[in-house]
Amino acid sequence: MTNQSPNHKSRNRQMIGVAVLTLGVACSAEAQTFTKDVAPILYSRCAACHRPTQMAPMSLLSYEEVRPWAKSIKHRVVKREMPPWFADPAHGTFANDASLPQKDIDTIAAWVDRGAPKGDDKDLPPRPAFTEGWSIGEPDVVLAIPEYNVPADGVIPYLYFTVPTNFTTDTWIAGLEIRPGNRQVVHHVIVSVLDPGREAPEQGATRGNVDVIRNQLAGTTPNKPGMMYPPGIGKLVKAGSSLVFQMHYTAIGQAVTDRTSIGLKFARTPPAKQVRTGLALNNRFVLPPGDANHEVRSAVTIGEDVHLISLTPHMHFRGKDFTYTALYPDGRSEVLLRVPNYDFNWQLSYLLQTPRAMPKGTKIECVAHFDNSSRNAANPDPKAEVRWGDQTWEEMMIGFYTFTRDAEQAVDTQGGSGGSGRSNRSSGSVVPSVPVVPLVPVVPSVPLIRPVPVVR
Ligand code: HEC
Repeated sequence: MTNQSPNHKSRNRQMIGVAVLTLGVACSAEAQTFTKDVAPILYSRCAACHRPTQMAPMSLLSYEEVRPWAKSIKHRVVKREMPPWFADPAHGTFANDASLPQKDIDTIAAWVDRGAPKGDDKDLPPRPAFTEGWSIGEPDVVLAIPEYNVPADGVIPYLYFTVPTNFTTDTWIAGLEIRPGNRQVVHHVIVSVLDPGREAPEQGATRGNVDVIRNQLAGTTPNKPGMMYPPGIGKLVKAGSSLVFQMHYTAIGQAVTDRTSIGLKFARTPPAKQVRTGLALNNRFVLPPGDANHEVRSAVTIGEDVHLISLTPHMHFRGKDFTYTALYPDGRSEVLLRVPNYDFNWQLSYLLQTPRAMPKGTKIECVAHFDNSSRNAANPDPKAEVRWGDQTWEEMMIGFYTFTRDAEQAVDTQGGSGGSGRSNRSSGSVVPSVPVVPLVPVVPSVPLIRPVPVVR
């Protein structure tokens, strides 16, 4: 009996606790307003894209702008379609994880269910500060291609434009952003560095030099914001280099002009390491017509000790899912990234929370599935047998990754006199495991959805 009493009491207390909690939730839900509860979420998680001059179709800054979209906003966040983020949370942690915490989704949903009230103006947080037109802030230099007249129809092959940097000293790039001149027609852009003295493709040429494409600086699809490299990592552009833009235009039934540019931010101090690109690709697959789940695999073995920075799966419209697994020399294996519902419209890069050591001999294995059936709404032709090709009705299977070489650190700490990172360090340092790079339509770059992630 004596035992029962405290138990009973504690049960009572629990029940009161539950009642109070329920009441608390009800109260705060009742109080959900735009100015107090919703604006802070939209400002920090949506406005980078949803503001004038950026890629999203509407601005989500003021109540007047947001209110007409309330139902659609609820729908998109509850389905986790916005903000765009496709990594399976079961594997890996990513510095640029854009997904909303459940409590923010609940806040938005509750607010919409209650009629999306505005609330008190004095609760409104200050508007986030953005640089007009750029997600990385004001670039140190902006380089643009000549204006190009995009025809109304027809298939436009990849075009190459060369723009001199006019850099008089070797320059470390800390961040960059490609800005399509006309997002409706720019399907993708890859910007590569052409070392001084190398022959440039003619303006508007339809063939680029494979070697040039190998030295990629950045790539974008229209839906991709700019990026900043993690601290201590950068990309070296030698004095006198030019930039080659590989442009993929898609005609929209109306002739328009485009003038795409790239904004570069310079590193204030030379970074310790250069970011490099590798890829595991398979270009020998055949997708049978109607096959809803065709598997394609690729793999690369890492030829020296490196640290992995980011992962960017690339497929076209039939791409369904994509998984990267690391098989370490000691027998362990680890899923690095799984994208269960790949969406061609979002060529996201996944930036590891902390760079992951990949000792020499590690095998990076990629497994992709393609849906070439009529059940895939994005499928341009379910009756076609599909192979590798540049155009979006053809397919690709590439597991891009970026990395730094561990050996580079050693060079720096020993010989880093005067911090002169502006040496020729990039020459002769191609990692043996990287296969010859074909003309690829996208490059891993890290979208800056949240402020520059801190990596170690
Ligand atoms: C990385 C950029 C980006 C971020 C971050 C982002 N959006 Fe979007 N959003 C877009 C783009 C681009 C589209 C148009 C393409 C599409 O509909 O998928 C879009 C479409 C939408 C639509 C549908 C518009 C329509 O035409 O029906 C809604 C609603 C939306 N976003 C809400 C949000 C909300 C709410 C957030 C933050 C919680 C958010 N988005 C974050 C880029 C972004």
